[in-house]
Amino acid sequence: MTQHLLTPITLRDLTVRNRIWVPPMCQYSVAARDGVATPWHLMHYGSFARGGAGAIIVEATGVLPEGRISPQDLGLWNDAQRDALVPVVELVHSLGAAIGIQLAHAGRKASTQPEWGTPHPGASLPEADGGWTTVAPSAEAYADLAAPEALDEAGIDHVVRAFADSARRAVDAGFDMIEIHAAHGYLLHEFLSPLSNHRTDSYGGDLAGRARLLLRIVDEVRALIPGGMPLLVRISASEWVEGGFDLEEATQLVTWLTEHGVDMVDVSSGGNTPLPEGTRIPVGPGYQTPLAAHLRTHTEMPISAVGMIDEPFQAEHVLATGQADVIRVGRAFLRDPSWGLQASLALRGDEELIPAQYRRAYRQQL
Ligand code: FNR
Repeated sequence: MTQHLLTPITLRDLTVRNRIWVPPMCQYSVAARDGVATPWHLMHYGSFARGGAGAIIVEATGVLPEGRISPQDLGLWNDAQRDALVPVVELVHSLGAAIGIQLAHAGRKASTQPEWGTPHPGASLPEADGGWTTVAPSAEAYADLAAPEALDEAGIDHVVRAFADSARRAVDAGFDMIEIHAAHGYLLHEFLSPLSNHRTDSYGGDLAGRARLLLRIVDEVRALIPGGMPLLVRISASEWVEGGFDLEEATQLVTWLTEHGVDMVDVSSGGNTPLPEGTRIPVGPGYQTPLAAHLRTHTEMPISAVGMIDEPFQAEHVLATGQADVIRVGRAFLRDPSWGLQASLALRGDEELIPAQYRRAYRQQL
């Protein structure tokens, strides 16, 4: 039987050993609010590579201090942050996996209290506790969070430069891929959405205006990273809200991203607006996969699917039916960092992905 999940995939000059990828997942585990990776990150990312993942995308990493979701986020706006990521890259490579990094700016959803160890998880961090004024396309708050300031032209240029500078550092650290975070209601998604972007200048209005900032960043990053290095973008292909950025706009955007040299789009959803009363996201196994399948059918872009794809045969089915080119497995990998090994045993039944040091654990006899 042809296997899809365990088949290598090539993007530009990078060949990844299989199509089991781990999506970015914030760990809120820097030591001194300095954005510098710690031993936790080494263990965390190493465990996925040890557990058979083909590629891993490092969590949302702030391109600017004010672009962090919380003070506990990773950053890549200075060289100390770059240097601390080098051992993570080297460890993952030594275990046979590829590694990318998600470059992010949290926009109006920045400066919040992380999920644990804080009095009000998810709420805005008061300035007295180290919080800061957030920025957005328009001076409109997300739900109960503190109101942002609208970015002016100079502020926009500053953000573009910060993405480019961080991408340069990621290349220097040895990463195989760069991912630009344009999903989940963070800054670039806020620009894309007509619900959060009410600008009257050339960065607002129709989709071409709302996409302008993202495309500028794509162009800058694409121009400076090596020609053989894949560039990825993560989008929310639906906001699940009437009048929001939707699949039709996403299809046009992905077509533009193809033309601008992006090599794969990861298809997520939501995050830019609290859902109106009575609206429910149809969360369930593979709930975002139809969005991925639509974009794969209607564009030329390689697509990765994500969202409650928890079982190896479910993942295999998504690929075998042509709905995506790659599967990202998030929380299931947190629950079981050997998810990739288990998938290879279930689908193919051989030891190839199991490190030699551990093979005895998978055999009948001691
Ligand atoms: C996430 N997610 C996420 N997404 C993203 O684009 N950047 C990020 O840094 C994070 N951080 C994050 C932390 C944690 C603890 C979780 C559980 C999730 C979303 C994540 O990448 C993925 O899209 C979702 O978890 C859905 O996939 P699964 O978990 O159902 O496979």
